[in-house]
Amino acid sequence: MKILQKVEECSESYGCSFVPTMGALHKGHITLIEAALKTDRPCVVSIFVNPKQFGPKEDYSKYPRMPDSDLAICRQLGVSAVFMPDEKIMYPPEFKTVVSIPTLSNCLCGLSRKGHFDGVATVVARLFGIVKPAEAFFGWKDAQQLIIIKRMVDDLALGIKIHGIETVREADGLALSSRNLYLSDAERKTAPNLYKGLKLGEAAAQNSTAGVVIETARQYIESSGLMIDYVDLRRISDLSAVDYQKKLDAKEQYLLASAVFCGSVRLIDNVKIF
Ligand code: PAJ
Repeated sequence: MKILQKVEECSESYGCSFVPTMGALHKGHITLIEAALKTDRPCVVSIFVNPKQFGPKEDYSKYPRMPDSDLAICRQLGVSAVFMPDEKIMYPPEFKTVVSIPTLSNCLCGLSRKGHFDGVATVVARLFGIVKPAEAFFGWKDAQQLIIIKRMVDDLALGIKIHGIETVREADGLALSSRNLYLSDAERKTAPNLYKGLKLGEAAAQNSTAGVVIETARQYIESSGLMIDYVDLRRISDLSAVDYQKKLDAKEQYLLASAVFCGSVRLIDNVKIF
């Protein structure tokens, strides 16, 4: 397995199947890598904790970094190369571009994480430019991110096939996340209520209005001891808002999404409806 650090070294990755990550690899990431390995292209993984997508009060400096075990996992899975640039390679001093998809970024997680999705789109655009993959793999766990990246790739005609991989969960429903490492034992027991609440909302969707779907999820999540940042229901196609008074249209697909604080740990999750 090659370890690539410079932009020029990546020319051999062109046409690969690509999995961008921030490291601290868990079963969620591994599922993306396994899907990339199933294509008949070499698989390239990137590991870069992107400062541009963390707000000033967020956990950039304490984000988990474990390059040795990440590399061991990639090697064992059969990854062809890992791109591990340092910050000067990703953002040389003269770097100026910001990639922004405002109408998809100004809702859900974008409301409380200003600039986050600009940071994500900017780093992914640069990673795509450096690695030049034919296909790339993203998780539905970060649904808004996936929808934004798909829009960017289409709008900029980047010609990269974007795959969305279903969320990988613990047995009790908690979506795997690098941030789960920060949960205390008590918080870990509370955390699965986020997904339980979303599933209750989903179950209500057949017969109720959008407002009732959201309220069903909200009430369960709130009463379980989690602090809600948002619970919202949007059209999956363009993240547009729905009329809370109306029933959902079974011909459309929706995203019921939520972010909560479990203690000081911010958790996100979502379910697709229809
Ligand atoms: P990171 O949080 O490391 O996640 C990398 C990829 O793994 C993302 O596509 C994410 O959606 C996916 N993933 C994480 N947990 C998952 C789970 N439980 N099930 C399925 N997929 C999961 O997302 C990022 O990094 C960054 O924003 C990045 C795209 C690398 C840009 O910096």
